[in-house]
Amino acid sequence: MSSAPVRDESRRTTQKLIIFDTTLRDGEQSPGCSMNVAEKLQVARALARLGVDVIEAGFPIASPGDFESVRQIATDIDGPVICVLARCIPEDIDRAWEAVRPSARPRLHVFLATSAIHRQAKLHMGKHEIVRHARAGVAQARELCDDVEFSPEDAARTEPDFLAEVVETAIAAGATTINIPDTVGYATPDEFRTLIAHLRRSVRGMERVVLSVHCHNDLGLAVANSLAAVQAGARQIECTINGIGERAGNCALEEVVMAVRTRRDRLPVWVDVDTTRLYPTSRLVCAITGSHVQRNKAVVGENAFAHEAGIHQHGVLQNRATYEIMRAEDVGFRHSALVLGKHSGRHALRAHIERLGFEVTDAQLDLVAARFKELADRKKEIYDADIEALVLGNNDAAASGWRLCSLHTVAGTQAIATATIEIAECDADTVVREAACGDGPIDAVFKAIARATGLALQVRDYKVRSVTIGEDAQSEVIVEIAFDSEPYRGRGISTDTVEASALAILDVVNRLLRLNVLTPEAALSGTS
Ligand code: KIV
Ligand code: ZN
Repeated sequence: MSSAPVRDESRRTTQKLIIFDTTLRDGEQSPGCSMNVAEKLQVARALARLGVDVIEAGFPIASPGDFESVRQIATDIDGPVICVLARCIPEDIDRAWEAVRPSARPRLHVFLATSAIHRQAKLHMGKHEIVRHARAGVAQARELCDDVEFSPEDAARTEPDFLAEVVETAIAAGATTINIPDTVGYATPDEFRTLIAHLRRSVRGMERVVLSVHCHNDLGLAVANSLAAVQAGARQIECTINGIGERAGNCALEEVVMAVRTRRDRLPVWVDVDTTRLYPTSRLVCAITGSHVQRNKAVVGENAFAHEAGIHQHGVLQNRATYEIMRAEDVGFRHSALVLGKHSGRHALRAHIERLGFEVTDAQLDLVAARFKELADRKKEIYDADIEALVLGNNDAAASGWRLCSLHTVAGTQAIATATIEIAECDADTVVREAACGDGPIDAVFKAIARATGLALQVRDYKVRSVTIGEDAQSEVIVEIAFDSEPYRGRGISTDTVEASALAILDVVNRLLRLNVLTPEAALSGTS
């Protein structure tokens, strides 16, 4: 087995599989995963470094924020094709083009539902109308851009012959990629393979276009269906980091990439992805969205390379291949090792951060270095996971919104829990002081922060995990609040769980402020 950077060597005899990442579009549609423009740019940069072929950057007609982030990504990110989504509606397509046109490699992706249920219940259109709109949408997009993708939404539940007719029409109108979505994650692998084979056989012009698939994970079959489609001739897979996306999510990019790389004998394709960047990219997306992957998640879960049973450990010590089909280092995963000491300098810190697969600007390094020193005063041993947590912490937290100045709590079995907090707006000197009682110290802190910020914060979910081993390990708290019925998440890290909780709730507040969803009145009532 080779070591980093890992590139596929079998490309002379097989075909390339295009990796189309839709973390910033379909992934961002998953509840609580919304990102602001700066966060989307950070993810887009990480995706470009990972080596994906296409980045679907957003759906510009959806909101001004979506438009702005697509435009910034199209302007700043070199390398991958930058794709944008639009319905087969003239204004959508014009708006999408306006957003993506600064890119050196723009793509317009137009879609229209084709299944009977969508035609009747959602679109109120007959088959002829669907064909007409698909033709017009693709033709308009093609006048603007040479690279046009067409998706018949809910294709997997569409009558195969009608699907073939729509696809043929889209190709004749100028589509260069045809994407077949299993929008509701309903297909089974054998069924989806048969559908792809049917389209390849029966659609005129199919040999001129790239055939793509886009599978949702409602039955846990997104990756299996995508790979079955590859065996039937699909050469683009649409996927997201950590499989995030609508409902149960999309096909997980890291799983597809490692399946292709590990099972070349079954999958006659290669991918142009630097697999050693899979784990750092996964961690970045977790940190930005506040949405964690489960410990046993394939490829990027914390337990993906852990061997618990003695018999397994013994086997691995004799020969790794007994129980390991991939190497942790090939996906950029390092078992948490004891690292730097209190006196390590900035250069050592930067070098270490880069070895972990992350990039920081000078300003971010200043913040991380300051937090590192604070941490080294509180904690005897500092591990890779601690450094990762510092790097992925909210590094622009100090630049906008509220910051925590001080925190004092009293709690106990016979005492009423109380919290006193002092917070200040980052660009102002005035400190706001508040106190509250609660059902335990964390609840009291949340109530005090709600009072101080004037926000009605309804906490929906609260998770805490230990970043590393040891009594003095840092706690990572993820808190989810409901605002205007939408979930928003925030993250806080500290060796003190109560402080981490306060930082997490302030992170949500600052996120709401940055997303501009708060008006002063809405803030008080919890609606926008
Ligand atoms: O799931 C789906 O059908 C989609 C399309 C817009 C490609 O996301
Ligand atoms: Zn989708």
